[in-house]
Amino acid sequence: MCGIVGYIGTAQAAPILLDGLSKLEYRGYDSAGIAVFDGEEIHVKKAAGRLKVLSELTHDGATMPGMLGIGHTRWATHGSPSDINAHPHYNKAETITVVHNGIIENYLKLKKKLQDKGYEFLSETDTEVLAHLLDYYYKGNPLEAITKVMHRVEGSYALGIIFKDFPDTLYAVRKDSPLIVGEAKDGNLIASDVPAVLKYTREVYFIQNEEIAVLKKDSIAFYNVDSEEIKKESTTIQWDINAAEKGGYEHFMLKEMYEQPKTVRDTLSPRLKDGAIEIEELGMTPEEIRAIRKIHIVACGSAYHTGVTAKYVFEGMARIPVEVDLASEFRYRDPILEEGALVIIISQSGETADSLAALREAKARGAKTLGIVNVVGSSIAREAHKVMYTWAGPEIAVATTKAYSAQLIAQYLLAIKFAQVRGTVTQAEVESMIVDLKGLPGQIEMLLANKGRIQKFANRYLAARDIFFIGRGIDYAISMEGSLKLKEISYIHSEAYAAGELKHGTISLIEEGTLVAAVATQKELYKKTISNIVEVRTRGAFVLAVTNEDNTDIEKAADYVIYIPTTNRYFTNSLAIIPLQLFSYYVAVGRGCDVDKPRNLAKSVTVE
Ligand code: AGP
Repeated sequence: MCGIVGYIGTAQAAPILLDGLSKLEYRGYDSAGIAVFDGEEIHVKKAAGRLKVLSELTHDGATMPGMLGIGHTRWATHGSPSDINAHPHYNKAETITVVHNGIIENYLKLKKKLQDKGYEFLSETDTEVLAHLLDYYYKGNPLEAITKVMHRVEGSYALGIIFKDFPDTLYAVRKDSPLIVGEAKDGNLIASDVPAVLKYTREVYFIQNEEIAVLKKDSIAFYNVDSEEIKKESTTIQWDINAAEKGGYEHFMLKEMYEQPKTVRDTLSPRLKDGAIEIEELGMTPEEIRAIRKIHIVACGSAYHTGVTAKYVFEGMARIPVEVDLASEFRYRDPILEEGALVIIISQSGETADSLAALREAKARGAKTLGIVNVVGSSIAREAHKVMYTWAGPEIAVATTKAYSAQLIAQYLLAIKFAQVRGTVTQAEVESMIVDLKGLPGQIEMLLANKGRIQKFANRYLAARDIFFIGRGIDYAISMEGSLKLKEISYIHSEAYAAGELKHGTISLIEEGTLVAAVATQKELYKKTISNIVEVRTRGAFVLAVTNEDNTDIEKAADYVIYIPTTNRYFTNSLAIIPLQLFSYYVAVGRGCDVDKPRNLAKSVTVE
């Protein structure tokens, strides 16, 4: 997720671009750049680091005169954060300049074709392909070039484009990445999101898929992919800036929960090609995959919880033994990493000190390492032998939700790929699992729509002292994450317990009215979990059950049931965690906690 802006009007563009980008830094902030047309040339300035580096470089835009410009604040997906990978990107003649938010999925194929035609590339980005492709199709008509590019590229994009031959015009186009047009008194603007334009206008056009906007300083026209002009109605924005940055949500955490369908889709789709799973970045031959004798998954916090889930998935599907370690333990326990060990480090930030140290420990012991990371170019991403990115975009809330969901998806994909190569699953099973994976975003959307009922239930537990989460197998891993979500944002004490373990001590803590959340998504363990539910209920607990939609028997045992849609038994964490996230969120909100920035916590724990 990145932020793009553009302006054309009677004011100096650069300060407006920088101001707009500052309102979009929540969308990405590892590098930034602007391009301004001064009537003669298109001048480009870009820099790695936060936006303030660029502002200082351009003296807040003063060194870049001109009344037409585009800008970009980046969240790297293809190519690490660097000056050269920062946007805007341009063609060799520097007559076409573009900023892009999204992912061009077929960029490698297009890049090869352009290179075969003599095009030279400066960066590692997918966006630079667009600049050269526009150049390739441009024969004097920008709209024609844009529509040809739209027919060739696969993936998502919101683009701002300047053509040197058209100094009085700003072009924009979108597919699947958000794009708006703002109509202001001294000019017109484009942006990825409303906050960037609110200072100048509240009159906004929301661009729909495959629509093109053509902005002049005093007019705006819209076209479809067939270059036919279309009419659009503007919307008057009522939000204030603060609410707008959260997309109208009260907290970033809620916004990011609602981004999970997109996060799952963005992490899945580039790796599903013609019905097969292709994880190009893995760079492992089938022989190397077959040579894996053991997987060690090492992480912290929620990332660790995804690893506990993945253990069941890898072992169940690919029959590869898996050991899951907390990074802070792994690095000091003199781990035995035998021949054929693959160490997978999972980290949203890619900077967690314990996880980075564990990676270095594994490498020092000669193990092959793979990072599953959200931040492109982060330390773990750079130092692991291989990296598989979770394309969740910047996660602002300290409590992870969308990155957690993406980490699960990445590990499901790996497990299916490994199982397929090792022949432990049939082609039919792979196809069925791919169907289930593709169904997850819609099912997550359905569960998120249930927030009202969950909020009502959560409000009953604002004064709770202890809340327990129990489950067996993958349901135990889900319980771990449900418990962590609750305690880290609501400050209510909570524990996750293997349901079968309660009777060995902890059940003594159950009192009249204690809330126990029982997760039961593993059919073969239903009966066992139900007997554990009965155990705690007879001791006074109030039991919330989270279970599959076909498990209505549980209503005889539990006090309150939340059902999740049917999916593959290995993927239920992706669904069951949604009501538990919502429950934690509404308990924290009800208790007046600082949901996005909980006390004592940091988004990335870069110290031991
Ligand atoms: C999750 O809600 C927590 N904020 C925390 O447990 C986090 O998952 C952990 O610190 C690991 O962070 P990382 O994924 O950036 O390495």
